[in-house]
Amino acid sequence: MHAALPQGEQEAGSIDTPTRPPRDLRRIDIHPDHWYPLAWSREVKTGHAHAVRFAGDPIVLVRTASGSVFALEDRCAHRQVPLSAGVVDGESIRCCYHGWTYDCTGRCTDIPYLGRERLPNGVRAYPCREAGGLVFVFTGDPALAATAKFPDLVSASDPAYKTRRFGQEVKCHYTFMHENLMDMNHQFLHRRQMGNMRARSLGRRRGDDWIEVDYTFAREAGKQPIGEALVFGQKRGSKPDDGHKDVMTIRTEYPYQTLKIRTKDDTMVMDLWIAYVPLDAEQRTNRTFGLLSIKRPKIPGLLDAAWPLLVWFTERIFKEDRWIVEREQEAHDRQGADHNHEVFPVINELRALLMERGVPHGAGKGAGETRRVHFIQPVQDLPAS
Ligand code: FES
Repeated sequence: MHAALPQGEQEAGSIDTPTRPPRDLRRIDIHPDHWYPLAWSREVKTGHAHAVRFAGDPIVLVRTASGSVFALEDRCAHRQVPLSAGVVDGESIRCCYHGWTYDCTGRCTDIPYLGRERLPNGVRAYPCREAGGLVFVFTGDPALAATAKFPDLVSASDPAYKTRRFGQEVKCHYTFMHENLMDMNHQFLHRRQMGNMRARSLGRRRGDDWIEVDYTFAREAGKQPIGEALVFGQKRGSKPDDGHKDVMTIRTEYPYQTLKIRTKDDTMVMDLWIAYVPLDAEQRTNRTFGLLSIKRPKIPGLLDAAWPLLVWFTERIFKEDRWIVEREQEAHDRQGADHNHEVFPVINELRALLMERGVPHGAGKGAGETRRVHFIQPVQDLPAS
């Protein structure tokens, strides 16, 4: 464990070169030995197959007649066509071409024109489970799946909160997304939505696979927009020294990220959990999956009535963030290297963490290939989180 870092650190003006990672962070692949959400549960309909991708690997999610979900590499062992074009048959999937049939372990169980006596090897199966309205797949070494940390999504199933599920494809490396959320000094980007807000870092803490930072906010000018009031649940001060005592904690606990807002009596009024899943082999595009949980106020129905406005407000913020991180990716591609000149120590710590926890580009892919074996037993029955 790392020691706690100094409190009261200010974000501006301190050039933090000693902790700056020496290599190009955008050439660091996400580590595959984690549970990643690859689809919303509602996208994987009963009796259907659903094609997804992880870092260039095609994967098919199959919801069987009984309602359970399993995950296989999305290719038939016969002529390599996608199994996602096939037909769900009870608890198995049948390839659309010659009808070879695969069960949840990836084993080929039937070839209609050969019978069951001469069955070939099957395809790779991935450990798979559902939680929080998401289908999670363990994309790395399946032997590690049972002991790997699974995300805490408790607010999303707590009736005291109302949860919005959101996300889109974003054309950038997943590390830009981590930097964007953790760096609250970019409120200037959102000035049209949120007015003039000033973030103040209260300090950061670091562990082996996590970093978190606390912020407070003060409004420097203007009134609080109503959309922001709905998200945060209470009115903010109108002068710099008039800031309320809410504390926002942003945490990257590899590979996930959270943002929680607690009031001075330690009530959590907002709980955001978010994951960025690389889609292509270069990891230049990610699919973002977010669960935004807002504590219900004492007046029944108030949050439900205001929900469309909250959705509109959060979509506007996300749209601006998406636009800017895609511009960062374009700049990186144009320059051919990471020329970022980061001055905020929190972000340099975050970059170091992402560098340490990820794998050099292509290295994880190679390891995954060598681990690719047939007839892997998927983990379908892990205890609920
Ligand atoms: Fe799949 Fe022939 S290609 S059964």
